[in-house]
Amino acid sequence: MAGKRILLIVGGGIAAYKACELIRLLRKRGHGVRCVLTSSGARFVTAMTLAALSEEPVHDSLWDLKDETEMGHIELSREADLVVVCPATADLLAKMAGGIADDLATTLLLATDKPVLAAPAMNVRMWLHPATRRNVERLRGDGVTVMEPDEGPMACGEFGPGRLPEPEAIVSAIEERLNTPFVPSAVEARGLGTVPGARTSTSLSANGKAGPLANKHILVTAGPTHEPIDPVRYIANRSSGRQGFAIAEAVARLGARVTLVAGPVSLPTPAGVERVDVETAREMAAAVEAALPAEGAVMVAAVADWRAEEAASAKIKKGASPPALALAENPDILAALARSSERPRLLIGFAAETNDVIAHAQAKRARKGCDWIVANDVSGDVMGGAENRVHLVTAEGVEDWPRMDKRAVAERLAERIAETLTKAEA
Ligand code: C5P
Repeated sequence: MAGKRILLIVGGGIAAYKACELIRLLRKRGHGVRCVLTSSGARFVTAMTLAALSEEPVHDSLWDLKDETEMGHIELSREADLVVVCPATADLLAKMAGGIADDLATTLLLATDKPVLAAPAMNVRMWLHPATRRNVERLRGDGVTVMEPDEGPMACGEFGPGRLPEPEAIVSAIEERLNTPFVPSAVEARGLGTVPGARTSTSLSANGKAGPLANKHILVTAGPTHEPIDPVRYIANRSSGRQGFAIAEAVARLGARVTLVAGPVSLPTPAGVERVDVETAREMAAAVEAALPAEGAVMVAAVADWRAEEAASAKIKKGASPPALALAENPDILAALARSSERPRLLIGFAAETNDVIAHAQAKRARKGCDWIVANDVSGDVMGGAENRVHLVTAEGVEDWPRMDKRAVAERLAERIAETLTKAEA
C-alpha cells in the first residue's frame, strides 16, 4: 500500500506508550503520522516523544494561535487519509458518541470528513459498562471502526477485555480500513444537505476544501534533484525547497488540490498537500507527467541540468588520476510541459539568476513557453535562506516585488494564481 497520512489522536491512559510503537510501525510501512495529544494523554507520553517519532509537529491545543494562522483545525482534521484514536479511552469514546467538541482532539473528530478508527483501552469494568457498550454501538452505527480490545491481565491488576490491541494488530486494522472505500457523506447521508449554512459543492471542493482555488489542481515542483555518479556520490545544488513548499502550502490554503513533486529535501509536508518524493530529474519528469492534468503548474524545482551519462553501479575507487565524468543533458520538465497536449492553463517557471536578472528571465519565458517567470536574484543569500527578492515577468510586463519572506512571496503568488485562474473562467 502506498504511504498514507494518519492523524493520530493520543488519549490519556497507560496504554498511551504503545502509541509510540504504533507511530514507529506506521512510519516503517511508509505512512506519515501527525499526532494530536490530549491533555490527559500528555500525562503519559510527551509531545516531544511523539514529535521525535513522527518527525512532525504535535498539536495539543485548540487555541494554538500559530496553528490557526498556519493551519486551521478543520484543515488538520481533513488533510489525513484516516483519523486514528489510540488509545481511545472510555471518556473519548463517550465524547465522540455524543458529538462533544471541547478540546482539539474532539473538535477534530467532529469536524473530519475522513474515516475514523478507534483502538480502545480501559479497565474491564469500564469497557463492559452499559454506557460504554451504548457508545461503542452508536459509534459503529455512525461508521467509526471501533476495534475490540484484547483480553488479559490489565495494568490495574484486573483481568478481562480492555487491553489495547497490539500495535501490529492496530496497523493491520488501519490498513484494512484504508483499503475500504469511504464516502465522506456526513452531510448528504444524514439528509442535511438542505440545512441552511451547509456548504454546497460550489464552495466546497471534492476534497472538502473551500476557497478561490477549490476544485482546481495545482502542480508544484520543488527542491533540488540528485543525479547519482555512483552509489555514494551525486550531483546536486543548494536549493532548500523552501520556496516551492511555501507555494504548495499557500495554494492549498486557497482551496486547491495540490500535488507537490519534491526533490530530496528535509522539509515537512505542508497541510493539505499530496507529496510525491523523487530524487532525479528523470523521476521528477515522470512524476509531473503522472500528476497531470492540472489547471496550474508552478515549477520551482532547481532541476540539475546534467546527470552522469552512466552512473557507476559500484563506488568509483580513487586512482592515480581523477576519473572523467561524462555528462548527459536532463529533460527540461518545464519546457516539455509547455509543449505537451496537457499544458496547464497557467504555467509558471522560476529563474534563478546572478546577473541581468530581468533580461534573462524574459528570454527564458519565451524560450520555455511558460506564462510567467518568477525571477530571483540569487547572487546574495537567497538560496537556502528564508527571504527572496523576486520580479514577476509576464506577457504584460515586469513587476518588482520587495524583498520579503519566502512565505509572503508564496502567498502573493498564490493570490495572483487564484485571480488569474478564476478570471479566465469568468
Ligand atoms: O533553465 P533553467 O534551469 O534556468 O530554468 C528554470 C526553470 O525551469 C524553473 O522553473 C525550473 O523548475 C524549470 N526547469 C525544469 N526542468 C529542467 C530545468 C529547469 O523544469 N531540467
